[in-house]
Amino acid sequence: MACNFEFYSPTRVIFGKGTEQRVGALVREYGGTRVLIVYGGKSAVRSGVLDRAENSLAEAGISSWTLGGVVPNPHLDKVYEGIRIGKENSIDFLLAVGGGSVIDTAKAIAYGLAEPEKDVWELYEHTRTASKCLPVASILTIAAAGSETSNSSVITRVDTHQKRAYNDDISRPKFAIMDPELTKTLPDYQTESGCADIMMHTMERYFTNGGNMELTDALAEGLLRTVMKNAVILHTDPANYEARAEVMWAGSLSHNGLTGCGIASGDFMSHKLEHEMGGMFDVTHGAGLAALWPSWARYVYKDCLPRFVRFARNVMGVTADGTDEEIALKGIDAMVDLYHSIGMPASFHELGIAPTDAQIDEMARRCLEASGSALGSAKKLDLDDMIAIYRAANH
Ligand code: NZQ
Ligand code: ZN
Repeated sequence: MACNFEFYSPTRVIFGKGTEQRVGALVREYGGTRVLIVYGGKSAVRSGVLDRAENSLAEAGISSWTLGGVVPNPHLDKVYEGIRIGKENSIDFLLAVGGGSVIDTAKAIAYGLAEPEKDVWELYEHTRTASKCLPVASILTIAAAGSETSNSSVITRVDTHQKRAYNDDISRPKFAIMDPELTKTLPDYQTESGCADIMMHTMERYFTNGGNMELTDALAEGLLRTVMKNAVILHTDPANYEARAEVMWAGSLSHNGLTGCGIASGDFMSHKLEHEMGGMFDVTHGAGLAALWPSWARYVYKDCLPRFVRFARNVMGVTADGTDEEIALKGIDAMVDLYHSIGMPASFHELGIAPTDAQIDEMARRCLEASGSALGSAKKLDLDDMIAIYRAANH
């Protein structure tokens, strides 16, 4: 049965070739006059997109400052640096040029500048909520995290290895410029990790014991099949524009709430467990999810059997006869095959990490601390469950 829901996805999407040229006019339309452009390592410089963004802002008569050096699994220190620059220059708009790490950093800076007397990390510790946030927008350069339309920001505090999320609709970006051409410079591993992350954002909402809607399921299954198909194409033909466009649009729809309408609540335990792996081992988020998911799935599938059977049939194309449990397991195996076919890991060893038992215990402890209590919709996971899943993945 369908649950009541609210769908709020206010971000304006500007999609297609050359759309980044419009950024100056768009920022002006949304009232930005003093813009901090946030970017990552060197990819935005090398591709020229940073230059184009600065020129477009200048042509629109908008002053801009830059903050580069955001790293994947972005650091709190960079957020503080951005808040300092923002205060010194009376910044009133944040423009992220990059992927999830850059957009999440821009959101955190936007929170920090809107309430400059408070420590922004308190949001990520969940000891207070935000009452204001400066406007944020992005020029997206990687299809993956979905931060360009989501209400989420994920930041890592390096000294404590805490990677924490804060979700709030007031940070939803004003607009997202999405030019699939910009993703052609991605290393293959980042393209495929992005595909794994995009799929997982829908799978987190699909494997639920709450309500369901036929339309939401059809959207979710169609999205998953589309991303799988195009991830395989991009693995051998990374310059394929059509495939990049499909994946980029899926990235936003997968995490803007659309594939969760009518369900009671998503599961999201694969994400919570993976965030601890990112905090401790700095792994690429999508690859970390792929490495963990098979172990999570095999641990929980009996508690969410109808959904795993449906997934096997409608998403993974399992046609074999068998008991529900056998079909569910075949669906999980098929996803492992898919991960391998696009160069993604399906275990910690393949991911390149080998946590000790003590490190696994620590990740589980932190995951439970971040979750607040046993969480999950496919199956509620307590500390022992988390440890068991990490251990099962550790081969
Ligand atoms: O730093 P540069 O040089 O730009 O290189 C980046 C980085 O190394 C590179 N890259 C990005 N666009 C490129 C490019 N390289 C060449 N050409 C391009 N066009 O890709 C690498 C990864 O970038 P990153 O921004 O980290 O990727 P992604 O979008 O996957 O973001 C991952 C982060 O988002 C968080 C993750 O936990 C992780 O910290 N998430 C955020 C969410 C949200 N805010 O809604 C939800 C997600 O579930 C996720 O947790
Ligand atoms: Zn994710």
